[in-house]
Amino acid sequence: MPFDIMPWVELALRWLHVITGIAWIGASFYFVWLDNHLEKREGLPPGVAGDLWAVHGGGFYNSREYLIAPPELPSNLHWFKYEAYFTWISGFLLLCAVYYFSASIYLIDAAKLAVTPWQAIAIGLACLGGGWLLYDGLCRARLGRNNGAFGAVWFIILCGFAYGLTHIFSGRGAFIHVGAIIGTTMVGNVFFVIIPNQKKAVAEMIAGRVPEARLEQEAKQRSLHNNYMTLPVLLIMISNHYPMLTSGGAAWIVLAALSISGLLIRHFFNLRHKGELRWELWAAAIAIFIGTMFFVHSRQAPATANIVTFAEARAIMDKHCVMCHSAHPTHPDIAVPPAGLDFTKDDVVVRNASRIQLQTVTNETMPLGNETHMTAEERAALGAWIAAGARR
Ligand code: HEC
Repeated sequence: MPFDIMPWVELALRWLHVITGIAWIGASFYFVWLDNHLEKREGLPPGVAGDLWAVHGGGFYNSREYLIAPPELPSNLHWFKYEAYFTWISGFLLLCAVYYFSASIYLIDAAKLAVTPWQAIAIGLACLGGGWLLYDGLCRARLGRNNGAFGAVWFIILCGFAYGLTHIFSGRGAFIHVGAIIGTTMVGNVFFVIIPNQKKAVAEMIAGRVPEARLEQEAKQRSLHNNYMTLPVLLIMISNHYPMLTSGGAAWIVLAALSISGLLIRHFFNLRHKGELRWELWAAAIAIFIGTMFFVHSRQAPATANIVTFAEARAIMDKHCVMCHSAHPTHPDIAVPPAGLDFTKDDVVVRNASRIQLQTVTNETMPLGNETHMTAEERAALGAWIAAGARR
């Protein structure tokens, strides 16, 4: 049995990515919460903008925010940056290990655009770099001075990426790249703006000068943008478990709609921190979610009334599935039966009929990248066999 190292590499990277991602987003949500809850009251020492008390894990904590910076810099100042950097590094390596290493099955959809793996990788990387340059350029332009207008323009640009990429790559490959564009932008904000500005401010203070207010304003703005980008990016990271989101020509609309739900929920919490309860934001988010659900359902293929025998279903599976899904896959990129499914065994096919339905009929995720050019008729026939009870 050949030793297949890739699943282990993937597991290690995915684990690291989730851990560092939680640490990053957890800390950043905490600071947004902290900032929004600071009480600006009488009797605070000069230079203190607000403070608050909290109890957690049995300890009492008193946090203060200084308007510019404290009169004297503490000897031990904590920074938050490695969570963000390692989230990006692990995420980028994971993107390489899954989507670039096996580009022909996970990333490329030859029915949309027949590119070579290297061309696909070049398109992917260009989107990551291009996305950041576009975002950063717009932020520094006049548009960047108006957060609402900027947010709308950036959202439309991201929809453009989603539209373009879902018409170039496989659904999953497209979604993960939109997620990576947003994630790269968020880490770019930390690496190129927030941390350098903080460093400059600290250096100024050490030199006995008052840091320019611009440094803090810029960092605050980028941090606010990151806050709103978080929930859409998390949705994208889990989307490849849900083929109903990533497949079909309208996948970019589905992504845009659910992202709006995420933005509304984030906005609700940001306002709630300040004592404003806007339940209509939740109502709108849920309505959009449910609307999306029916929209996706309405576009899925209707069942056919034809009677399809097991022998016919078997022949379709032999033609389109078993080069990967067998104990000894003949597909060059596959070493072990994916998801443990060996479809050369009749009972495995019968037992997994509903999963086959989901992956192949309801959504067109399998065969991966439709390398075998499975036709709509074949999918419908498989669906008809399953709808009639998936009997042998
Ligand atoms: C090119 C190789 C390849 C071909 C061809 C292929 N699959 Fe898959 N299949 C995979 C891989 C890889 C996975 C694991 C997917 C993942 O990691 O998300 C998978 C997973 C699955 C799953 C499990 C998904 C889940 O999580 O429930 C089902 C069901 C499935 N395939 C059905 C099919 C059917 C039916 C066909 C033929 C119509 C088919 N596959 C053709 C590679 C392939």
